[in-house]
Amino acid sequence: MESIELQPTLNGLRGTIEIPGDKSISHRSVMFGSIAQGVTRVTNFLPGDDCLSTISCFRKLGVTIEETENEIIIYGNGFDGLKEPNDILDVGNSGTTIRLLLGILAGRPFFSSLIGDQSIGKRPMTRVTEPLKTMGAGIDGRKNGEFTPLSIRGGHLNPIHYKMPVASAQVKSALILAGLQAEGESTIIEKAESRDHTERMIQKFGGEIEKDNLTITVKGGQELIASDIHVPGDISSAAFFLVAGAIVPESEIVLKNVGLNPTRTGIIEIMNQMGANLEINNQNEDAFEPAGNITIKTSSLKGTVVCGEVIPRLIDEIPIIALLATQAEGTTVIKDAAELKVKETNRIDTVVQELTKLGASIEATEDGMIIHGGTILTGGTVSSHGDHRIGMMLAIASLISKDPVKLCDPEAISVSYPNFFSHLNNLKM
Ligand code: S3P
Repeated sequence: MESIELQPTLNGLRGTIEIPGDKSISHRSVMFGSIAQGVTRVTNFLPGDDCLSTISCFRKLGVTIEETENEIIIYGNGFDGLKEPNDILDVGNSGTTIRLLLGILAGRPFFSSLIGDQSIGKRPMTRVTEPLKTMGAGIDGRKNGEFTPLSIRGGHLNPIHYKMPVASAQVKSALILAGLQAEGESTIIEKAESRDHTERMIQKFGGEIEKDNLTITVKGGQELIASDIHVPGDISSAAFFLVAGAIVPESEIVLKNVGLNPTRTGIIEIMNQMGANLEINNQNEDAFEPAGNITIKTSSLKGTVVCGEVIPRLIDEIPIIALLATQAEGTTVIKDAAELKVKETNRIDTVVQELTKLGASIEATEDGMIIHGGTILTGGTVSSHGDHRIGMMLAIASLISKDPVKLCDPEAISVSYPNFFSHLNNLKM
Protein backbone atom coordinates (compact mmCIF):
# COMPACT_ATOMS: atom_id res chain seq x y z
CA MET A 1 0.00 0.00 0.00
CA GLU A 2 1.79 3.11 -1.18
CA SER A 3 -0.94 5.60 -0.49
CA ILE A 4 -4.40 5.81 1.00
CA GLU A 5 -7.28 8.16 0.22
CA LEU A 6 -8.82 9.66 3.36
CA GLN A 7 -12.21 11.34 3.40
CA PRO A 8 -13.33 14.15 5.72
CA THR A 9 -15.84 13.06 8.40
CA LEU A 10 -19.38 14.18 7.76
CA ASN A 11 -20.42 13.73 11.36
CA GLY A 12 -18.63 13.73 14.69
CA LEU A 13 -16.42 11.02 16.16
CA ARG A 14 -18.09 8.99 18.90
CA GLY A 15 -17.23 5.91 20.88
CA THR A 16 -14.65 4.28 23.09
CA ILE A 17 -11.10 3.20 22.25
CA GLU A 18 -8.90 0.85 24.24
CA ILE A 19 -5.52 2.56 23.79
CA PRO A 20 -2.73 0.11 22.76
CA GLY A 21 0.26 -0.53 25.02
CA ASP A 22 2.91 2.11 25.64
CA LYS A 23 5.86 1.82 23.25
CA SER A 24 8.52 3.02 25.71
CA ILE A 25 7.32 0.67 28.45
CA SER A 26 6.93 -2.27 26.05
CA HIS A 27 10.56 -1.92 24.91
CA ARG A 28 11.77 -1.76 28.48
CA SER A 29 9.67 -4.76 29.57
CA VAL A 30 11.54 -6.94 27.06
CA MET A 31 14.91 -5.47 27.97
CA PHE A 32 14.44 -5.78 31.73
CA GLY A 33 12.85 -9.23 31.36
CA SER A 34 15.96 -10.27 29.44
CA ILE A 35 18.51 -8.97 31.98
CA ALA A 36 16.60 -10.12 35.07
CA GLN A 37 16.66 -13.58 36.63
CA GLY A 38 13.50 -15.60 36.01
CA VAL A 39 10.35 -15.51 33.95
CA THR A 40 8.72 -12.16 33.12
CA ARG A 41 5.19 -12.11 31.70
CA VAL A 42 4.10 -8.96 29.92
CA THR A 43 0.45 -8.16 29.19
CA ASN A 44 -0.85 -5.43 26.86
CA PHE A 45 2.53 -5.42 25.10
CA LEU A 46 2.50 -3.18 22.01
CA PRO A 47 2.99 -5.39 18.93
CA GLY A 48 4.24 -2.42 16.88
CA ASP A 49 7.21 -2.82 14.54
CA ASP A 50 9.59 -0.99 16.90
CA CYS A 51 8.89 -3.28 19.86
CA LEU A 52 9.10 -6.35 17.62
CA SER A 53 12.60 -5.14 16.65
CA THR A 54 13.53 -5.17 20.35
CA ILE A 55 12.24 -8.76 20.71
CA SER A 56 14.19 -9.84 17.64
CA CYS A 57 17.46 -8.29 18.96
CA PHE A 58 17.16 -10.00 22.35
CA ARG A 59 16.42 -13.34 20.69
CA LYS A 60 19.65 -12.92 18.73
CA LEU A 61 21.37 -12.29 22.07
CA GLY A 62 20.24 -15.74 23.19
CA VAL A 63 17.12 -14.89 25.22
CA THR A 64 14.08 -17.15 24.85
CA ILE A 65 11.01 -14.99 24.27
CA GLU A 66 7.57 -16.46 23.57
CA GLU A 67 4.76 -14.48 21.99
CA THR A 68 1.27 -15.75 22.77
CA GLU A 69 -2.02 -14.06 21.94
CA ASN A 70 -2.26 -12.36 25.33
CA GLU A 71 1.26 -12.06 26.62
CA ILE A 72 4.97 -11.96 25.95
CA ILE A 73 6.98 -14.37 28.11
CA ILE A 74 10.66 -13.65 28.61
CA TYR A 75 13.02 -16.21 30.13
CA GLY A 76 15.75 -14.05 31.63
CA ASN A 77 19.10 -15.30 32.91
CA GLY A 78 20.57 -12.03 34.16
CA PHE A 79 23.07 -9.85 32.29
CA ASP A 80 25.35 -12.89 32.06
CA GLY A 81 22.65 -14.81 30.19
CA LEU A 82 23.19 -12.61 27.12
CA LYS A 83 25.43 -14.27 24.51
CA GLU A 84 27.48 -12.99 21.60
CA PRO A 85 25.08 -12.77 18.63
CA ASN A 86 25.94 -14.64 15.40
CA ASP A 87 24.08 -12.13 13.36
CA ILE A 88 23.82 -8.34 13.04
CA LEU A 89 21.31 -6.76 15.46
CA ASP A 90 18.79 -4.88 13.31
CA VAL A 91 16.82 -2.25 15.23
CA GLY A 92 14.65 -1.25 12.24
CA ASN A 93 13.24 2.26 12.82
CA SER A 94 13.68 2.20 16.59
CA GLY A 95 15.88 4.78 18.34
CA THR A 96 14.88 3.45 21.76
CA THR A 97 16.02 -0.06 20.83
CA ILE A 98 19.47 0.97 19.61
CA ARG A 99 20.27 3.51 22.32
CA LEU A 100 19.14 1.41 25.29
CA LEU A 101 20.68 -1.73 23.79
CA LEU A 102 24.04 0.06 23.53
CA GLY A 103 23.85 0.71 27.29
CA ILE A 104 23.27 -3.00 27.94
CA LEU A 105 25.92 -4.21 25.48
CA ALA A 106 28.50 -1.77 26.90
CA GLY A 107 28.95 -4.10 29.88
CA ARG A 108 28.84 -7.42 27.98
CA PRO A 109 32.21 -9.02 27.19
CA PHE A 110 31.50 -9.81 23.54
CA PHE A 111 31.22 -8.28 20.08
CA SER A 112 27.98 -7.08 18.48
CA SER A 113 27.18 -5.03 15.40
CA LEU A 114 24.08 -2.90 15.02
CA ILE A 115 22.19 -1.50 12.08
CA GLY A 116 18.78 0.04 11.45
CA ASP A 117 16.78 1.52 8.60
CA GLN A 118 17.57 4.66 6.60
CA SER A 119 16.09 6.96 9.26
CA ILE A 120 18.17 5.36 12.04
CA GLY A 121 21.22 5.88 9.83
CA LYS A 122 20.71 9.65 10.14
CA ARG A 123 20.10 9.84 13.89
CA PRO A 124 22.88 10.93 16.27
CA MET A 125 24.48 8.20 18.36
CA THR A 126 27.50 9.93 19.93
CA ARG A 127 25.17 11.29 22.62
CA VAL A 128 25.19 7.67 23.85
CA THR A 129 28.41 6.21 22.45
CA GLU A 130 30.72 8.94 23.85
CA PRO A 131 29.75 8.57 27.53
CA LEU A 132 29.68 4.76 27.15
CA LYS A 133 33.22 4.88 25.73
CA THR A 134 34.27 6.96 28.74
CA MET A 135 32.96 4.15 30.94
CA GLY A 136 35.18 1.67 29.08
CA ALA A 137 33.13 0.22 26.21
CA GLY A 138 34.79 -0.21 22.81
CA ILE A 139 32.47 1.35 20.24
CA ASP A 140 33.02 2.35 16.66
CA GLY A 141 30.83 3.29 13.75
CA ARG A 142 30.40 5.48 10.73
CA LYS A 143 31.64 9.08 11.25
CA ASN A 144 33.50 8.16 14.46
CA GLY A 145 30.56 6.39 16.04
CA GLU A 146 27.97 9.08 15.27
CA PHE A 147 25.94 6.93 12.88
CA THR A 148 25.06 3.29 12.21
CA PRO A 149 26.41 0.78 11.34
CA LEU A 150 27.91 0.57 14.82
CA SER A 151 30.07 -2.08 16.42
CA ILE A 152 30.50 -2.57 20.13
CA ARG A 153 32.74 -4.74 22.28
CA GLY A 154 31.70 -4.35 25.89
CA GLY A 155 33.37 -5.45 29.09
CA HIS A 156 34.48 -4.04 32.40
CA LEU A 157 32.86 -0.64 33.03
CA ASN A 158 33.86 2.19 35.33
CA PRO A 159 31.02 4.20 36.86
CA ILE A 160 30.20 7.54 35.28
CA HIS A 161 29.43 10.99 36.69
CA TYR A 162 27.76 12.72 33.83
CA LYS A 163 25.89 15.94 33.25
CA MET A 164 23.72 15.30 30.22
CA PRO A 165 23.94 17.92 27.45
CA VAL A 166 20.47 16.95 26.08
CA ALA A 167 17.14 16.19 27.72
CA SER A 168 16.77 12.59 26.55
CA ALA A 169 15.28 9.55 28.24
CA GLN A 170 17.11 7.33 25.78
CA VAL A 171 20.51 8.71 26.75
CA LYS A 172 19.63 8.64 30.46
CA SER A 173 18.38 5.06 30.19
CA ALA A 174 21.43 3.84 28.26
CA LEU A 175 23.70 5.25 30.98
CA ILE A 176 21.57 3.76 33.77
CA LEU A 177 21.68 0.33 32.06
CA ALA A 178 25.47 0.61 31.74
CA GLY A 179 25.67 1.93 35.31
CA LEU A 180 23.91 -1.23 36.54
CA GLN A 181 26.90 -3.19 35.23
CA ALA A 182 29.68 -0.80 36.32
CA GLU A 183 32.00 -1.26 39.27
CA GLY A 184 30.71 1.36 41.70
CA GLU A 185 28.10 4.08 41.80
CA SER A 186 27.16 6.21 38.81
CA THR A 187 25.53 9.65 38.87
CA ILE A 188 23.63 11.05 35.92
CA ILE A 189 22.35 14.63 35.95
CA GLU A 190 19.48 15.36 33.58
CA LYS A 191 19.15 18.61 31.68
CA ALA A 192 15.37 18.53 32.18
CA GLU A 193 13.12 15.81 33.53
CA SER A 194 12.41 13.19 30.87
CA ARG A 195 10.27 10.05 30.97
CA ASP A 196 11.21 7.90 33.97
CA HIS A 197 10.05 4.44 32.84
CA THR A 198 13.54 2.96 33.22
CA GLU A 199 13.83 4.15 36.81
CA ARG A 200 10.36 2.80 37.66
CA MET A 201 11.13 -0.51 36.02
CA ILE A 202 14.38 -0.99 37.95
CA GLN A 203 12.36 -0.69 41.15
CA LYS A 204 9.68 -3.04 39.81
CA PHE A 205 12.42 -5.61 39.14
CA GLY A 206 13.69 -5.32 42.72
CA GLY A 207 16.61 -2.98 41.98
CA GLU A 208 17.56 0.29 43.62
CA ILE A 209 17.88 3.69 42.03
CA GLU A 210 17.79 7.09 43.65
CA LYS A 211 16.49 10.34 42.29
CA ASP A 212 17.02 13.79 43.76
CA ASN A 213 15.55 16.44 41.46
CA LEU A 214 17.54 15.99 38.26
CA THR A 215 20.26 13.77 39.76
CA ILE A 216 20.00 10.00 39.42
CA THR A 217 22.25 7.62 41.32
CA VAL A 218 22.56 3.92 40.53
CA LYS A 219 24.88 1.24 41.92
CA GLY A 220 26.55 -1.36 39.72
CA GLY A 221 26.39 -5.11 40.33
CA GLN A 222 22.70 -5.29 41.24
CA GLU A 223 20.77 -8.43 40.41
CA LEU A 224 17.31 -7.82 38.98
CA ILE A 225 14.48 -10.29 39.59
CA ALA A 226 11.79 -11.08 37.00
CA SER A 227 8.46 -9.31 37.49
CA ASP A 228 5.15 -9.43 35.67
CA ILE A 229 4.37 -6.23 33.82
CA HIS A 230 1.03 -4.84 32.68
CA VAL A 231 1.73 -2.15 30.11
CA PRO A 232 -0.66 0.84 30.28
CA GLY A 233 -1.94 2.45 27.09
CA ASP A 234 0.38 4.85 25.30
CA ILE A 235 -0.50 8.51 25.91
CA SER A 236 1.49 9.32 22.75
CA SER A 237 -0.98 7.16 20.76
CA ALA A 238 -3.97 8.51 22.70
CA ALA A 239 -2.82 12.02 21.75
CA PHE A 240 -4.05 11.58 18.16
CA PHE A 241 -7.58 10.84 19.36
CA LEU A 242 -7.45 13.53 22.04
CA VAL A 243 -6.82 16.05 19.29
CA ALA A 244 -9.33 14.42 16.91
CA GLY A 245 -12.04 14.61 19.58
CA ALA A 246 -11.22 18.26 20.29
CA ILE A 247 -11.19 19.50 16.67
CA VAL A 248 -13.90 17.44 14.93
CA PRO A 249 -17.32 19.04 15.52
CA GLU A 250 -19.91 17.05 17.50
CA SER A 251 -17.44 14.55 18.93
CA GLU A 252 -17.17 12.71 22.21
CA ILE A 253 -14.52 10.00 22.62
CA VAL A 254 -13.60 7.93 25.66
CA LEU A 255 -9.97 6.75 25.70
CA LYS A 256 -9.50 3.86 28.07
CA ASN A 257 -6.40 2.79 29.96
CA VAL A 258 -4.19 5.76 29.08
CA GLY A 259 -0.81 5.88 30.82
CA LEU A 260 -0.68 9.02 33.00
CA ASN A 261 2.91 9.00 34.21
CA PRO A 262 3.56 12.69 35.04
CA THR A 263 6.73 12.65 32.91
CA ARG A 264 4.48 12.02 29.89
CA THR A 265 1.37 14.14 30.51
CA GLY A 266 2.57 17.43 28.97
CA ILE A 267 -0.05 17.06 26.21
CA ILE A 268 -2.86 17.12 28.79
CA GLU A 269 -1.44 20.22 30.44
CA ILE A 270 -1.16 22.03 27.10
CA MET A 271 -4.63 20.96 25.95
CA ASN A 272 -6.08 22.22 29.24
CA GLN A 273 -4.18 25.46 28.79
CA MET A 274 -5.74 25.78 25.31
CA GLY A 275 -9.22 25.26 26.76
CA ALA A 276 -9.90 21.64 25.74
CA ASN A 277 -13.03 19.95 27.01
CA LEU A 278 -11.17 17.06 28.62
CA GLU A 279 -11.89 14.96 31.71
CA ILE A 280 -9.82 12.28 33.43
CA ASN A 281 -11.45 9.57 35.53
CA ASN A 282 -10.83 6.14 37.05
CA GLN A 283 -7.24 7.17 37.66
CA ASN A 284 -5.07 4.48 39.20
CA GLU A 285 -2.27 6.46 40.80
CA ASP A 286 -0.79 3.62 42.82
CA ALA A 287 0.19 1.37 39.93
CA PHE A 288 3.89 1.19 39.01
CA GLU A 289 2.82 3.22 35.99
CA PRO A 290 -0.34 5.28 36.68
CA ALA A 291 -3.20 5.10 34.14
CA GLY A 292 -6.78 6.28 33.71
CA ASN A 293 -9.60 7.00 31.26
CA ILE A 294 -9.91 10.28 29.39
CA THR A 295 -13.08 11.73 27.85
CA ILE A 296 -12.58 14.38 25.20
CA LYS A 297 -15.33 16.45 23.59
CA THR A 298 -15.31 19.01 20.79
CA SER A 299 -13.61 22.09 22.18
CA SER A 300 -13.26 25.75 21.59
CA LEU A 301 -9.50 26.33 21.69
CA LYS A 302 -7.14 29.25 22.02
CA GLY A 303 -3.48 29.50 21.04
CA THR A 304 -0.70 29.13 23.60
CA VAL A 305 3.05 29.00 24.13
CA VAL A 306 4.67 25.58 24.50
CA CYS A 307 8.22 25.81 25.84
CA GLY A 308 10.68 25.03 28.62
CA GLU A 309 10.45 22.10 31.01
CA VAL A 310 7.25 20.71 29.46
CA ILE A 311 8.97 19.99 26.12
CA PRO A 312 10.54 16.61 27.06
CA ARG A 313 7.19 15.61 28.60
CA LEU A 314 5.40 16.03 25.26
CA ILE A 315 8.20 15.81 22.69
CA ASP A 316 6.50 13.06 20.62
CA GLU A 317 3.17 14.92 20.68
CA ILE A 318 4.41 18.12 19.01
CA PRO A 319 3.29 17.11 15.47
CA ILE A 320 -0.28 16.57 16.65
CA ILE A 321 -0.17 19.70 18.88
CA ALA A 322 0.76 21.65 15.73
CA LEU A 323 -2.40 20.37 14.04
CA LEU A 324 -4.44 21.26 17.14
CA ALA A 325 -3.00 24.79 17.01
CA THR A 326 -4.20 25.28 13.41
CA GLN A 327 -7.75 25.03 14.82
CA ALA A 328 -7.25 27.30 17.83
CA GLU A 329 -8.05 30.98 17.98
CA GLY A 330 -4.86 33.03 17.80
CA THR A 331 -1.22 32.06 17.51
CA THR A 332 0.64 29.14 19.10
CA VAL A 333 4.40 29.29 19.56
CA ILE A 334 6.42 26.11 20.13
CA LYS A 335 10.04 26.66 21.18
CA ASP A 336 12.96 24.93 22.96
CA ALA A 337 12.20 21.88 20.80
CA ALA A 338 15.30 21.57 18.60
CA GLU A 339 15.35 17.83 19.52
CA LEU A 340 12.53 17.47 16.96
CA LYS A 341 15.17 17.73 14.25
CA VAL A 342 16.70 14.37 15.21
CA LYS A 343 13.56 12.26 15.54
CA GLU A 344 12.40 9.66 12.96
CA THR A 345 12.37 12.63 10.57
CA ASN A 346 13.26 16.28 11.11
CA ARG A 347 9.83 16.90 12.61
CA ILE A 348 10.07 20.69 12.41
CA ASP A 349 10.51 20.39 8.64
CA THR A 350 8.08 17.54 8.00
CA VAL A 351 5.27 19.05 10.11
CA VAL A 352 5.63 22.49 8.53
CA GLN A 353 5.99 21.11 5.00
CA GLU A 354 3.00 18.74 5.15
CA LEU A 355 0.60 20.99 7.06
CA THR A 356 1.41 23.85 4.66
CA LYS A 357 0.30 21.57 1.79
CA LEU A 358 -3.08 21.31 3.55
CA GLY A 359 -3.41 25.08 3.81
CA ALA A 360 -2.19 25.65 7.36
CA SER A 361 -0.45 28.89 8.26
CA ILE A 362 2.69 27.58 9.95
CA GLU A 363 6.34 28.55 9.92
CA ALA A 364 9.48 26.81 11.09
CA THR A 365 11.84 28.43 13.59
CA GLU A 366 15.28 27.32 14.80
CA ASP A 367 13.85 25.37 17.73
CA GLY A 368 10.18 24.93 17.00
CA MET A 369 7.37 26.49 14.99
CA ILE A 370 4.78 29.25 14.95
CA ILE A 371 1.22 28.33 14.03
CA HIS A 372 -1.47 30.87 13.19
CA GLY A 373 -4.79 29.32 14.16
CA GLY A 374 -8.28 29.46 12.79
CA THR A 375 -7.45 28.04 9.36
CA ILE A 376 -9.71 25.86 7.28
CA LEU A 377 -7.67 22.94 5.97
CA THR A 378 -7.95 21.97 2.33
CA GLY A 379 -7.32 18.50 0.91
CA GLY A 380 -4.25 17.46 -1.02
CA THR A 381 -1.49 14.91 -1.34
CA VAL A 382 0.77 14.55 1.69
CA SER A 383 3.36 12.09 2.95
CA SER A 384 4.31 10.53 6.26
CA HIS A 385 7.97 10.65 5.12
CA GLY A 386 8.17 7.18 6.72
CA ASP A 387 7.49 8.75 10.15
CA HIS A 388 4.62 7.11 12.07
CA ARG A 389 3.66 10.21 14.04
CA ILE A 390 3.60 12.43 10.93
CA GLY A 391 1.39 9.82 9.19
CA MET A 392 -1.12 9.72 12.07
CA MET A 393 -1.18 13.51 12.43
CA LEU A 394 -2.02 13.86 8.72
CA ALA A 395 -4.74 11.20 8.95
CA ILE A 396 -6.35 13.19 11.78
CA ALA A 397 -6.00 16.38 9.69
CA SER A 398 -7.95 14.70 6.87
CA LEU A 399 -10.99 14.43 9.18
CA ILE A 400 -11.48 18.22 9.11
CA SER A 401 -10.19 18.94 5.62
CA LYS A 402 -12.60 20.32 3.04
CA ASP A 403 -11.54 17.80 0.39
CA PRO A 404 -10.05 14.29 0.49
CA VAL A 405 -6.43 13.82 1.57
CA LYS A 406 -4.15 11.35 -0.18
CA LEU A 407 -1.62 10.09 2.38
CA CYS A 408 1.54 8.52 0.93
CA ASP A 409 3.53 5.96 2.90
CA PRO A 410 0.83 5.27 5.54
CA GLU A 411 2.34 1.90 6.51
CA ALA A 412 4.92 3.70 8.70
CA ILE A 413 2.08 4.01 11.24
CA SER A 414 2.52 0.34 12.24
CA VAL A 415 5.73 1.34 14.04
CA SER A 416 3.68 2.44 17.06
CA TYR A 417 -0.04 1.94 16.30
CA PRO A 418 -0.86 -1.06 14.05
CA ASN A 419 -4.66 -0.72 14.68
CA PHE A 420 -4.78 3.02 14.13
CA PHE A 421 -7.08 3.05 11.09
CA SER A 422 -9.50 0.46 12.47
CA HIS A 423 -9.78 2.45 15.73
CA LEU A 424 -10.36 5.64 13.74
CA ASN A 425 -13.00 4.07 11.49
CA ASN A 426 -14.87 2.68 14.50
CA LEU A 427 -15.36 6.22 15.79
CA LYS A 428 -16.85 7.60 12.59
CA MET A 429 -20.61 8.07 12.75
C1 S3P B 1 11.89 7.56 24.28
C2 S3P B 1 12.47 8.79 24.51
C3 S3P B 1 12.28 9.95 23.63
C4 S3P B 1 11.10 9.77 22.69
C5 S3P B 1 11.08 8.40 22.07
C6 S3P B 1 11.01 7.32 23.13
C7 S3P B 1 12.15 6.46 25.23
O1 S3P B 1 13.44 10.12 22.84
O2 S3P B 1 11.12 10.76 21.68
O3 S3P B 1 9.96 8.26 21.20
O4 S3P B 1 11.44 5.43 25.17
O5 S3P B 1 13.07 6.60 26.05
P1 S3P B 1 14.72 10.97 23.37
O6 S3P B 1 15.32 10.25 24.50
O7 S3P B 1 15.64 11.03 22.18
O8 S3P B 1 14.19 12.30 23.75
